[in-house]
Amino acid sequence: MKQNSNTELPIDEEVEVSPGFIVERRSFMAVFGGMSLAMLSGTIAKAAIEESSDKNISFDQFLAQANPLAQKLVGDTSISGQELYLRSIAALTSKLHNIPVPTKFNNTGQGKKAEDYKIGFVPGGDPFTVLHWRLEPGAICTPHVHEYGNVVSVGIEGAVRISNYVSTDKFDYEKNETFQIKKTVDQLLTAGSANLVPLNMIHGFQAGPDGARGLDITTRLLPKPERSTPYLSIANKATDEFTGIYDASWAYKS
Ligand SMILES: [Fe+2]
Repeated sequence: MKQNSNTELPIDEEVEVSPGFIVERRSFMAVFGGMSLAMLSGTIAKAAIEESSDKNISFDQFLAQANPLAQKLVGDTSISGQELYLRSIAALTSKLHNIPVPTKFNNTGQGKKAEDYKIGFVPGGDPFTVLHWRLEPGAICTPHVHEYGNVVSVGIEGAVRISNYVSTDKFDYEKNETFQIKKTVDQLLTAGSANLVPLNMIHGFQAGPDGARGLDITTRLLPKPERSTPYLSIANKATDEFTGIYDASWAYKS
């Protein structure tokens, strides 16, 4: 077999990693030669997951395994490719211990009070960005579409109710009328559990009575669109309970 050779191309960028939250980061796009990407990805994913299957890992150990694995898998943005990417990262988080707490948290402005929902940046992820979020009791993260990146949310403390939805049709961001979305997941995220958000999925959070902390491991896959974050208003009651169809409309914020 031909020897694999990798070249890393540095890319400096300002990244809006969460609605209204921008960090400057340096990422690396790996260019591979020789061994096929699928073969390399499968081998590394298996080794990384086996490596982490029998012991707890620190955040630095997580990064040491997750960064090269994510770099290998991130190029396949197909539905199944993103599924493998998100599940592989989520699997590595399952043994994470002693997650660092950022020195600085910024208000997201999404809560009813300024302090309700804060996010801090945890450096070291590549190609993903790690955000540490804190929700006060009952605080909300307004439902929004992830239209240029995917996310693994990981619970650290407390409990947060997460709802995920997909569009029943292609999203039309200019549409003023009501449209339909389909709830695919209704999950109580607690310490150690994970929620996956591939490209173009909607997610929204509401913290329980004790509040919650967690990570969003977010990866940009497409250029950021010009428009503001596509928040949604979603009907409280489904129009079809069995299939989880809800009426929704855009609720853009400036
Ligand atoms: Fe989000």
